[in-house]
Amino acid sequence: MKKVGLLGCGAIGTQLALAIDSEKIPAKITHIYDKSKDASSKLAKQLSHEPIIVENPHLLSSNPVDIIVEAASQDAVKDVALSVLQNKKDLMIMSVGALLDESVYEILSDACKDFKKTIYLPSGAIAGLDAIKSVRNELDSISITTTKHPRSLKGAKFFETSDINLDTIEAKTIIFQGTAKEAVFLFPANINVAALLSLSGIGSEKTSVKIVADPNTDKNTHTIEAAGSFGKMTLVIENYPDSNNPKTSRLAILSAIETLRGYCSEEIKIGT
Ligand SMILES: NC(=O)c1ccc[n+]([C@@H]2O[C@H](COP(=O)([O-])OP(=O)(O)OC[C@H]3O[C@@H](n4cnc5c(N)ncnc54)[C@H](O)[C@@H]3O)[C@@H](O)[C@H]2O)c1
Repeated sequence: MKKVGLLGCGAIGTQLALAIDSEKIPAKITHIYDKSKDASSKLAKQLSHEPIIVENPHLLSSNPVDIIVEAASQDAVKDVALSVLQNKKDLMIMSVGALLDESVYEILSDACKDFKKTIYLPSGAIAGLDAIKSVRNELDSISITTTKHPRSLKGAKFFETSDINLDTIEAKTIIFQGTAKEAVFLFPANINVAALLSLSGIGSEKTSVKIVADPNTDKNTHTIEAAGSFGKMTLVIENYPDSNNPKTSRLAILSAIETLRGYCSEEIKIGT
């Protein structure tokens, strides 16, 4: 049975750990870390097979685990991803925005080859990445429009320099329009989907992003449009936010669980 180390014990990390604990994922969660000691001990107490809480994130991959699952932050990816691969462990990354930093992407991509290990990026809160990957070389344009309740956008770096006050928005308002590269920098906790789309398709500078705040919605909606010599695709995904973290969609959690379940299972693999 595969052994899992978990970095980040928030909304996604907790649900992944509970999925392992309840045997939905055939694995053992042996070591966990969160920069908040409260978060890691709260999670450990919920599990029937209590994992070891390590003292720093680098200690996760120095233990005998098969894979480290990151569900923490872009900074956490930048801090530990390389050492995970150097310690010959696979890695699943949720804070995908970190990979839009080209130097980070190149270092990790080379390390996968050098240490013969794999980085897994779950599809997260969107659908259709299987198709986008397949048509990558025939894509002319790709865009994503993300519509969320203003409270789901709170705390983003963008608002440090913007006059927009999320508390006073009364109707659908376009907050941001630009490239995925800009969006991931300005909305790091919100727009991992734009990062995933860029990495599957034609890069972060050619992927257009629109972010809309809608005070009358209770969903996180992503509309993806792609066109090229293969034809056209329009994908609309209406997600309910997770009850513990409105920035994270329920689908992102389910997608993480499914990716880890697939990694831990000997089975027929479905999908491109
Ligand atoms: N790929 C996707 O589609 C997708 C979707 C939703 C969220 N995410 C990303 O996944 C990550 C986790 O999401 P979440 O909803 O569980 O967030 P969360 O805020 O509920 O939990 C994050 C946890 O990680 C901890 N943490 C943060 N930085 C850390 C660090 N450097 N070292 C150790 N622990 C750290 C926090 O204390 C917190 O307990 C976020 O970066 C989020 O942006 C990705």
